[in-house]
Amino acid sequence: MSGRFVLGLEIPPADQPALLASLERAVRERTDLQPRLGLVLGSGLGGLADALELEASIPFEELPGWPDATAPGHSGKLLFGRLSGVPVVVQQGRFHLYEGHSAGFVVQPVLLMGRLGARAVVLTNAAGGVNPEFGTGTLMAITDHLNLTGRSPLVGPNAPEIGDRFPDMTAVWDAELRSSLHAAADAEGVALADGVYACLMGPNYETPAEVRMLARLGADAVGMSTALEAVAARWAGLKVCGVSLVTNPGAGLSGAQLSHAEVLAAAQSAGPKLARIFARFIGDLD
Ligand code: HPA
Repeated sequence: MSGRFVLGLEIPPADQPALLASLERAVRERTDLQPRLGLVLGSGLGGLADALELEASIPFEELPGWPDATAPGHSGKLLFGRLSGVPVVVQQGRFHLYEGHSAGFVVQPVLLMGRLGARAVVLTNAAGGVNPEFGTGTLMAITDHLNLTGRSPLVGPNAPEIGDRFPDMTAVWDAELRSSLHAAADAEGVALADGVYACLMGPNYETPAEVRMLARLGADAVGMSTALEAVAARWAGLKVCGVSLVTNPGAGLSGAQLSHAEVLAAAQSAGPKLARIFARFIGDLD
């Protein structure tokens, strides 16, 4: 048995407005905070929410249609509060294709953030390093992505009230927000690289041949999230920026085998550096 929710039923864009309206109502029963920004925290990065002046915390399972986040390291809450004085919504834990969720479901949290008032989203993830110069602990501002999942959250009848049928993806990753991330990193004395994030479905890690392929395709880091959220956020007119935390060299690049426990440990140990960047980045938003 897969649990109390049916896995994988596609949610076409045309169904999102009604679903988002009911999610919005459920949130508004708990908080009237108007977030300016949404922050999505990836594996092992939940601690980035520690600095939040919390106003409301809503476990995923208390929102209509949302199950618990099941991946270890994902605790599954929407948090509302202020970071550096700025009202934000923080998604602690996320939904993944590899859990059996549909692409439309995976992106509902970022669409909800937009519906609640956020104008931009900051996406974070734990990733494997594909660029041989990106060792464990490297922070990488995402300049672009490769969606290699073969899936899109925009398949099916469109919802024109949210976005275009054929949304442009020339500049998914906002250059101005990225330069603000770099300015914040510089001010904090934290190194921040730039690179392309490749998203695969998972849940298995890549083979060494796949990592070599990704390098030839122009990827610098690889993971199992983020790209679909970025596509949906752009569709909905939100600005997007993000940071990958390299938790391990990609398969075959070091002698070591990959384990989720090591990914989590590396993410947790680099988390405070990333938290400093975000605290300053958000405080400096105009
Ligand atoms: N591959 C895919 N996803 C990941 C990795 C990896 O090497 N490390 C952390 N998330």
